[in-house]
Amino acid sequence: MCGIVGILGRGPVADQLVDSLKRLEYRGYDSAGLAYLDGSNTLHLDKQVGRVQALIDEIGGDQLPTSTSAIGHTRWATHGTPTIANAHPHTNTDKTIMAVHNGIIENYVELREHLQRQGYQFVTETDTEVIPHLIDFYTRTSQNFSEAFEQALNQLRGAYAILAITSKDPDALYAARLSSPMVVGVGEGELIVASDPAAILEHTKQVVYINDYEFVCVRRDGTYDIKNFKDARPVNHEVETLDYDAAQASMGDFPHFMLKEIHEIPQTIRSATLGRVRVESGTVKLGGLESVAEQLKYIDRIVIVACGTASYAGLYGEYLIEELAGIPVEVQQASEFKYRKEPFSRSTALIAVSQSGETADTIAALKKVEDYGVLRLGVVNAVGSTMTRMTDAGVYCHAGPEQAVASTKAFFAQSIVLMLIGLYLSNGQTDLYKPLLEELNVLPQKAEQVLAQAEQIKALAQKYKDYEDFMYIGRGYAFPCALEGALKHKECALVHSEGYPAGELKHGPLALIDERFPTFAVATDSAILDKTYGSIEEIRARKGPVIAIATEGNEEITHLADDVIYVPHATEQTAPLLAAIVMQLFSYYVAVEKDLSVDRPRNLAKSVTVE
Ligand code: AGP
Repeated sequence: MCGIVGILGRGPVADQLVDSLKRLEYRGYDSAGLAYLDGSNTLHLDKQVGRVQALIDEIGGDQLPTSTSAIGHTRWATHGTPTIANAHPHTNTDKTIMAVHNGIIENYVELREHLQRQGYQFVTETDTEVIPHLIDFYTRTSQNFSEAFEQALNQLRGAYAILAITSKDPDALYAARLSSPMVVGVGEGELIVASDPAAILEHTKQVVYINDYEFVCVRRDGTYDIKNFKDARPVNHEVETLDYDAAQASMGDFPHFMLKEIHEIPQTIRSATLGRVRVESGTVKLGGLESVAEQLKYIDRIVIVACGTASYAGLYGEYLIEELAGIPVEVQQASEFKYRKEPFSRSTALIAVSQSGETADTIAALKKVEDYGVLRLGVVNAVGSTMTRMTDAGVYCHAGPEQAVASTKAFFAQSIVLMLIGLYLSNGQTDLYKPLLEELNVLPQKAEQVLAQAEQIKALAQKYKDYEDFMYIGRGYAFPCALEGALKHKECALVHSEGYPAGELKHGPLALIDERFPTFAVATDSAILDKTYGSIEEIRARKGPVIAIATEGNEEITHLADDVIYVPHATEQTAPLLAAIVMQLFSYYVAVEKDLSVDRPRNLAKSVTVE
């Protein structure tokens, strides 16, 4: 899950390219590189291990600033360790063709052996290096570069978004996609091809989304052609306008995107319900589901597929939809779902939940049921992303761009949208309908009240920053939120953290508990709070430190826990969401205390576009 970008302009493109690379860094940041054509149409290559800034510091080429055609890459290694050699772009032997790639070429070994038999020398451990050599091989027998590129594409197996630049045709850039995301930005005097609108936003809001099996050629005169390289059919796509601006996608005055995005949670809740909740008429309107409203009446089973934080929002949604609409729901990790052999009936609906809309495992889950006649719905944040074009209908999260690798505000947008879907499917036939509609109206303010305790949560993080193990527990709606808390502590603060249903502790995990293994207990008011107290007692009996998140006014908890963070009164369903804000902030502050790379945790990437 790398980031790729290419810019072809009438004027110099270097600054834009570097800016776009930085905006793509959340997709992978173990190495970076770029290739550009100079004034005499000679190709130059610069690559560096580490962040994009390391590449910028390294770039010697005095020709780059004047270049009007360039491609770039930020890497998340899949094949070959992060070295300068393995960094992209990769080149053919005479350095006339250079390519960057996001994805995995599954048949690269076989292609490499075939090309080595043709005399090609390979200098990297990557799968990607076969691409420029393969194009080179086909230029020997093709009329032109475009034809050679297309022939090479038809040999590749796997997932890819590829961008190629060549001195053989300096007034064009060539690109193609299969599974990995790609968008073309139509700017004033330049065309930009990139993995993600974030890389384009600073230059234009006019974008064209590229689909699977599509081959794009962009030209210096501002024109571009799209073709399906499986059936050679020309393709026309509408130019769409991005509905957010660069400011929204920038850090503003915050030190990190993660903190900025946590502080956007109240607005995220408002945006997720805007125009969808009518308290006075007691109605929920989900325009995105109207086209399938009839089918939804006959749904008797829902399967939610997702990964990571999105799967925890899915689990929260499972509890809610079952309680509100009485339809059996099960959450499945998308990476497992794809390979399970389970029965499906036409009265089953599949809901794919995703922030990026580009997660390969979840896309594969959607593809799996393509011919099952199953209704495929999406709860997605990224507008125009692949999943939104694979589903029959869906509900956007409207959380705005999320840049930090650790997903925070998107968890709330997904959970709230799943609540709206539960309320929508309940058709008002639940006692919880009105109370939850009213609660959604006031939840943003309650979230602001929690954020107002940031200093207290920071102090707690300073107190617990050196613990190497942490347990997160909750019952009912608090369990998915505990899982989310544990994941943030893992990925941001690099601490071994386990999320567990509180009742499960005594079936094994309790063995881990001692004075060196603190527990975060989500103990907000609920009908089963006493049970959670019981779990806390079990931990106390083993000298485990306990941080409890409780509902304000709960005195009893102060006798059970070492530290307590209070959240405002809320419904049994929404109070754990307020607790999740505390846990996300806690992990953020521990990561800052430990001086870690908060927005770019090691070994991770924002949208996981390979299986
Ligand atoms: C969460 O902080 C992680 N970045 C990761 O688990 C993420 O939630 C998962 O990869 C799913 O991503 P998606 O929502 O974009 O599909």
